[in-house]
Amino acid sequence: MAHDLGIVRRTGSAKAAPATRNPARHVPYTWTPELKAEMAPLFEKVKHVVTPMEWPYYAPYIKAINELKAQKNAVILAHNYMTPEIFHGVADFRGDSLQLAKEAARTDAKVIVQAGVHFMAETSKLLSPDKTVLIPDMRAGCSLAASITVEDVRMLREAHPGVPIVTYVNTSAAVKAECDITCTSSNAVKVVESLGAPRVLCIPDQYLAQWVQSQTKVEIIAWKGACEVHERFTGEELNKMRADDPGVKIIAHPECPQDVIAASDFTGSTSGMINWVKTNRPKKVVLVTECSMASNVAVEAPDVEFVRPCNLCPHMKRISLEGIYDSLVNMRYEVTVDPDVAERARRAVERMVNLKI
Ligand code: 13P
Ligand code: SF4
Repeated sequence: MAHDLGIVRRTGSAKAAPATRNPARHVPYTWTPELKAEMAPLFEKVKHVVTPMEWPYYAPYIKAINELKAQKNAVILAHNYMTPEIFHGVADFRGDSLQLAKEAARTDAKVIVQAGVHFMAETSKLLSPDKTVLIPDMRAGCSLAASITVEDVRMLREAHPGVPIVTYVNTSAAVKAECDITCTSSNAVKVVESLGAPRVLCIPDQYLAQWVQSQTKVEIIAWKGACEVHERFTGEELNKMRADDPGVKIIAHPECPQDVIAASDFTGSTSGMINWVKTNRPKKVVLVTECSMASNVAVEAPDVEFVRPCNLCPHMKRISLEGIYDSLVNMRYEVTVDPDVAERARRAVERMVNLKI
């Protein structure tokens, strides 16, 4: 696989082995034969993607976090891009942006720890305003969310009077508050068509907008944002992979550029991609998306060989077991949304969540 896309790239599980580190002193467990035996069933599940050197470091955190969740009536919502020790070790709910938003609205827990990025935590807060929403690292942002401001949306509204604005959930609550409805990668086409308008502004991801345009007769007006992970893939590298191995299946996220989508066998949200692998059981597949997802789905599809063009999202990778543990012990970092912004942003998110599509 000869290609260099510039972001952190490696094969195997998506995090450097912390073999020489000991769990932080405040974790109430150490690696003992008893803990090893207790955690053996979980290790059996993840052993293809978590090494035996990593496990003695992760296991005490996993046990401590799972106990803290029960004590604090907390749930962990984990995006599909979380590393496998988080995804399979401590998450209560796993999924794509839409599934996590729906779960945030539905959970009875008092505390939500968002194992994902800041806009996801804000969305959880919008849908569960009475709950405490925590994010383990406030720096977990998103290049798409950063690509558009409230002023930009107001300018677009003025430039295109009467044209509804659909915003990808990968935006701040303040931006959502300026828009008519949100969408995610799994429902973008249906959300756009639900509006019954001939033209729709689809912001901020230019590639998602282009993909929606290829699927609908509604005229789409795009913004120029992009995901720093997906925009680095190229159709050329995928075509080369296929030429080198004609049997390989290639599946891509719609945040990828159009030449990447054209070179792929399937395009869908992160959960759409996972379901495609589970249903089609290809012998060998390239997941054209964030790297950790291959490790997570490999746990459930051990018969499938994954080729990993390993682009990591630096924002998602700020979330770690250590951070989640700290978050639950110290109840930090709390995500809040200004009440006026929240009311308007909630309307846009709820309109999406309540769509019967
Ligand atoms: P989905 O999980 O909704 O497909 O989104 C991918 C993504 O980039 C989230 O940051
Ligand atoms: Fe944002 Fe892209 Fe990272 Fe998702 S993968 S959080 S869209 S930068």
